Amino acid sequence: MCGIVGYIGTQQAAPLLLEGLSRLEHRGYDSAGVAVVGPTGVRVAKRAGRVRDLQEELPKRFAGKAGIGHTRWATHGPATDANAHPHTDGKGDVAVVHNGIIDNANALRADLADAGVDLVSDTDTEVLAHLIALSDADTLEGKVSETLQRIDGTYGLAVLHADFPDRIVVARNGSPLIIGVGEKEMHVASDLAALVRYTTTVAHLEDGEIATITATGFTTYRADLTHAPRTATEVDVDPASYDVHGSDFMLREMLDQPAAAERVLRGRLDERFGTAHLGGLNMDARETRAIRRVKILGCGSAYYVGQMGASLIEELARIPADAEAASEFRYRDPVIEPDTLYVAVSQSGETIDTLLAVQEVRRKGGRVVGLVNVVGSAIAREVDGGIYLHAGPEVAVASTKALTTMFLGFALLALQLGRVRDLSIADGKRMVAGLQALPGQVADVLALSEELVEVAEQLAAAESLFFVGRVRGFPVAREGAQKFKEITYRHAEAYQTSELKHGPLALISPKVPTVAVVPHDELTDRNVAALHEISARGGPLVVVTHPDVDLGGITCRRVDVPRSERELDPILLTLPLQLLAFHAATHLGLDVDKPRNLAKSVTVE
Ligand code: F6R
Repeated sequence: MCGIVGYIGTQQAAPLLLEGLSRLEHRGYDSAGVAVVGPTGVRVAKRAGRVRDLQEELPKRFAGKAGIGHTRWATHGPATDANAHPHTDGKGDVAVVHNGIIDNANALRADLADAGVDLVSDTDTEVLAHLIALSDADTLEGKVSETLQRIDGTYGLAVLHADFPDRIVVARNGSPLIIGVGEKEMHVASDLAALVRYTTTVAHLEDGEIATITATGFTTYRADLTHAPRTATEVDVDPASYDVHGSDFMLREMLDQPAAAERVLRGRLDERFGTAHLGGLNMDARETRAIRRVKILGCGSAYYVGQMGASLIEELARIPADAEAASEFRYRDPVIEPDTLYVAVSQSGETIDTLLAVQEVRRKGGRVVGLVNVVGSAIAREVDGGIYLHAGPEVAVASTKALTTMFLGFALLALQLGRVRDLSIADGKRMVAGLQALPGQVADVLALSEELVEVAEQLAAAESLFFVGRVRGFPVAREGAQKFKEITYRHAEAYQTSELKHGPLALISPKVPTVAVVPHDELTDRNVAALHEISARGGPLVVVTHPDVDLGGITCRRVDVPRSERELDPILLTLPLQLLAFHAATHLGLDVDKPRNLAKSVTVE
């Protein structure tokens, strides 16, 4: 989604801003723009389309050693040149880039229109530029602070002003803003990816803060401009891992899963005591034993993996656990219980719904831990403790390797909770061995890729599909349907196999294939009976199953995956569903890495 960059120092800003924007492209965007401030005031170049289009059309003389840039993902108004950021006051005094949503934008637009201001875009951001320009405050910080007092909503923003060419003023409320400290130069970005190439010494602005950035340093303030001292620290990231240029990300990320699985497990398994060690949880044995319930919060695929995680926790730790869509959680005014452990799960660590759910829990005194991939991200910093997933940067919109590491993160958590409680050492050792074998088994399933091309092409021909599973298999089916719909644009619906008879069976026909998840478990026979019902109605079947499952001679395309420990089976059953979606979308000639209408990080509600 929208991205912000900024630069102030001794070099020309524009090339650095464009480079920074190109490093945010993978997040999803539909327009881009930059502004610089120099001796002749503020200059802006922006347009709908790609960063490289903007680069090609940049005016020759676009000089200035301070500047801001933005990639926009349309929320208020379509992707047009006028709606692209930066937005200005129309006089060339002020330029603003903004991530987030101003909730009272309509009222402010009406006030400005009444005051004779000519608004030229459909956006909420434009009002910020005008309010800053109209402020009587003597300093740019004062103008920004005064403006922010008039707005409701979320923002990460950066402001240039012709009268204050020696600074960029930034502010944050609910949308990330990072300051990068260089040698006689400073950077700003909404995502580490845009600045790690230049510096790994960073300061994260907190909600409600404003900062002044000059070529030689930065000063942070609270909203009322009292000082809120903040120091920059070194982030432990490998800049090379942020080199996200290229294509075929989903494919590469799927193939990275065996290595990602090894990374998340590394140093965390204890063979001797059959347990896991997750120091970052910041919970001692007494606190762990006091947990009566676990509530997992995530969005989209992270929510579905959260459902897999809830099963793992119930099975291994015997603690009641469930997962809930973080996007709904806080709107039902949830009861927060002191003996519940809340677990936020997120690849990006930026998903606004998950972040706001975490804040809701904390506001009400609950304890939240995180399973997060991006180091230093907003959710990682907001939680009381957690597990980093070490999946490495994930660029394709459709999440694959991050989900595998989330599943394994839950397995580690469940194992640690279980061993502090009632899980026997024998079962603990069984799980440790199962987890150690998993990276190799993941590689074995991925090796099926070529065999799945033909069946994926057949599935791609259908307008509508079902994905079905039961109990442990149901979140697998949900995740399979999610992957399929997001990159093939086919209608893919997940159902509990047991629920088919209660309605959806009416839709089964030779034109509606079903992808069924049928592990070897206590429900195999019932699952197979449901497959017969689908087959009897002419429904084509793809069955993802285990080699020792007897499908009773049913006509289907069978995909066998190796068995793991039964608690760990869901992740191996998920992998063929990723491959089916990938091959189907590739066959349809679609942009697998950047599906339409979707952004990698969903940073607005
Ligand atoms: C699906 C997908 C999304 C994300 C969801 C949460 O492939 O990627 O459904 O899982 O937007 O994102 P994170 O994990 O960054 O919070």
